[in-house]
Amino acid sequence: MTTTTQELADRYLMHTAKRLPVTFVRGRGCLVYDESGREYLDLVAGIAVNVLGHAHPEVAAAVASQAHALIHASNLYFTQQQVELAQRLVDLSFPSRVFFANSGAEANEAAIKIARKWGARHKGGAFQIITSIGSFHGRTIATVTAGGQSKYSEPFQPLPDGFVHVPYNDLDALKAATTKQTVAVMLEPVMGEIGVIPAAPGYLEAVHKWCDEQDMLLILDEVQTGIGRTGRWFAHQHAGITPDVMTLAKGLGGGVPIGACLAAPRADVFEPGDHGSTFGGNPLACAAALAVLHVIERDALVGHAAEMGEMLDAALRELGGQDVRGLGLMRAVQFAEPTAKPFQQACLEAGLLVNAVDDHTVRFVPPLIISPAQIDQAHATMKAAVAR
Ligand SMILES: Cc1ncc(COP(=O)(O)O)c(C=O)c1O
Repeated sequence: MTTTTQELADRYLMHTAKRLPVTFVRGRGCLVYDESGREYLDLVAGIAVNVLGHAHPEVAAAVASQAHALIHASNLYFTQQQVELAQRLVDLSFPSRVFFANSGAEANEAAIKIARKWGARHKGGAFQIITSIGSFHGRTIATVTAGGQSKYSEPFQPLPDGFVHVPYNDLDALKAATTKQTVAVMLEPVMGEIGVIPAAPGYLEAVHKWCDEQDMLLILDEVQTGIGRTGRWFAHQHAGITPDVMTLAKGLGGGVPIGACLAAPRADVFEPGDHGSTFGGNPLACAAALAVLHVIERDALVGHAAEMGEMLDAALRELGGQDVRGLGLMRAVQFAEPTAKPFQQACLEAGLLVNAVDDHTVRFVPPLIISPAQIDQAHATMKAAVAR
């Protein structure tokens, strides 16, 4: 008897993830294939990562060609791809400078360090950062503490000082939690991991105003919402505001690991030696990200995501859930009964990938290239899954 990948994983991989019993070997566009050749329509996209779907020819070509030229050089030297990518991101967002990392958690670590240094320099040593209950900012010790879900932080006590959690969308609570020690507010424009909870209309604008009045930094974690996901390049653009610091990862590299932290001139406090990363912004990851941004822009995928998002929303509303919410191609349905996991399983068996984030809530973050016909196909599969 041959040992399967899943049996070997049990033996050799740390048990950090509860995985579904499927082993993927290849993909194309919004489709992905398992070991037996079975096809799945992917509405998860590697958790909001594969914005151009799987094996996009232009991303694959950019990675291959860069791999043949120069994979890595370190930040002891300049590489053209890193500078070009920084310039593209700044052009698409707001006047700022960029630090490149390898993940969302690392991008947020950079943001937290910026806030601390800015507080030491400009705010008499203020260091506290207000974040949201239910938020998710990554799995390092600082970002797990910043995140507002104690299940992820409590086992790792003692946690770093300086994070205060308030209910999301509650401006009064945020104001009440602000003290002389507060240096920044850190928010997801749509809380993703907890089940796609968008900022209420006016909330981001009001927090932005409060940060200005109180001379605090506004840090927006756009790791999940960025790169066209919500139907704008960055979700804060729906609110017409500009943060002081923005973090990105996930979709930026189209599947190649990369993170970025953008700081507006006011927050651009890092000096040589303050921060660094061996791999951050290496030419391979930056070449992939440049290809991703090029294709999104050329193929008008940000507008397409907005349109497909409306169509997905309408499809989800027919599933009989208690709530359907989200922005663009970042959506969730919440069922009254604890049926999210059986629903996910029924979809998987029918060749459709969806993501149950808890017992009641299913998240959908498909590739931005998804077509109307694929949404129709997903809709039919989901209706059958609900009926089961
Ligand atoms: C909003 C947000 N921030 C940060 C992270 C952490 O990113 P990474 O897993 O790349 O460290 C995630 C991942 O789900 C996220 O959704």
